[in-house]
Amino acid sequence: MSKIKKHILISTSGGDAPGLNAVIHAIVIAAEKKGYLTTGVKNGFDGFLMPSHEGLISLNRESVRGIAHLGGTILGTKNFGHPFEYPTIENGHTVLKDRSDEVVAKFNEIGATALIVIGGDGSLRLAHRFALKGIPIVGVPKTIDNDIIGTFPSFGFDTAVMVATEAIDRLHTTAEAHERVMVVEVMGRYAGWIALYAGISGGADVILIPEIEYNLEKICDKIREREKSGMHFSIIVAAEGAKPVGGTYLTKDMGAGHMEKLGGIAEKLAVDIEASMNKPARHVVLGYLQRGGGPTHRDRLLGLRLGVKAVELVDAGLFDHMAAATPPGLSAVPLIKVVDGLKTVDPNNDLILSAKNLGISFGT
Ligand code: F6P
Repeated sequence: MSKIKKHILISTSGGDAPGLNAVIHAIVIAAEKKGYLTTGVKNGFDGFLMPSHEGLISLNRESVRGIAHLGGTILGTKNFGHPFEYPTIENGHTVLKDRSDEVVAKFNEIGATALIVIGGDGSLRLAHRFALKGIPIVGVPKTIDNDIIGTFPSFGFDTAVMVATEAIDRLHTTAEAHERVMVVEVMGRYAGWIALYAGISGGADVILIPEIEYNLEKICDKIREREKSGMHFSIIVAAEGAKPVGGTYLTKDMGAGHMEKLGGIAEKLAVDIEASMNKPARHVVLGYLQRGGGPTHRDRLLGLRLGVKAVELVDAGLFDHMAAATPPGLSAVPLIKVVDGLKTVDPNNDLILSAKNLGISFGT
């Protein structure tokens, strides 16, 4: 590939989120209007590590036509084994190698104007590290978890909440028919946004989030209170990161190079509630349903707007920043302000207060 004067590379990195294709679509169209060519990088940063230019896909108006409403990402993505700690087999063992210089070398060889990284907190952290290594980078925040600092919401979140709310609605009828307790586990990692939004919207009786540690007895009290008033079923929405007072969240070991994997709280709670109340309890883990399928109109619209904004930042030479949703508008937020932490739910958030006034328990 000969060096092109105005050229933007695009990569989608980390777990997918509905709206990624809308961002890609918008970047390609907006970039073309400003005279840039665009190229996609396959599978997150891995595309830079593939031989020659095998990891690159030429993009244009035609190749992104009709993709804005589709889930997933036409570029592919990856959420483990990043270039600074790349899992590599040596003598039969997996070792983590720093291959970040190879990424920089490939970027320089391509000679593009900028790289736009559409990713979550982990990917934006990597983007910032690559910016420090000299790659002109612009970020676009993406995650169903809504936990990225400096943007509210992140695209993908609205779709996840919609899916979870629909699931909670459906679980009401079967819970009531069988007079059971239903524990629904939703994603969100260390933040309780999905559980909070979907739990309130779906009329949950108990919402458990990582930011408010729960007490099993208080959950049982709420179920008993409902029993007394003639409601022999209860719905509990538990964020995967929910934890008991003084305890920690449940995890699964995924091996070297993988990020911490949360999960298992719904099953545990169902067992614990059944044991302590002698009342039938069942659990359901919504998992990847929350990430799959097309985006809601809100996520699609936000994705399209952020894609256009990211091209504006490239054109203005404002690198090491991300295009952020800062209602009512969009803005440029320095990545350094984003990479040191997560946006979690403030227990004094008005949503928590509203939920409590609706009679929802947080297990406290
Ligand atoms: O960050 C998005 C997310 O879907 C989290 O809610 C969840 O904990 C995690 O990704 C799951 O990741 P994986 O795709 O590695 O199972």
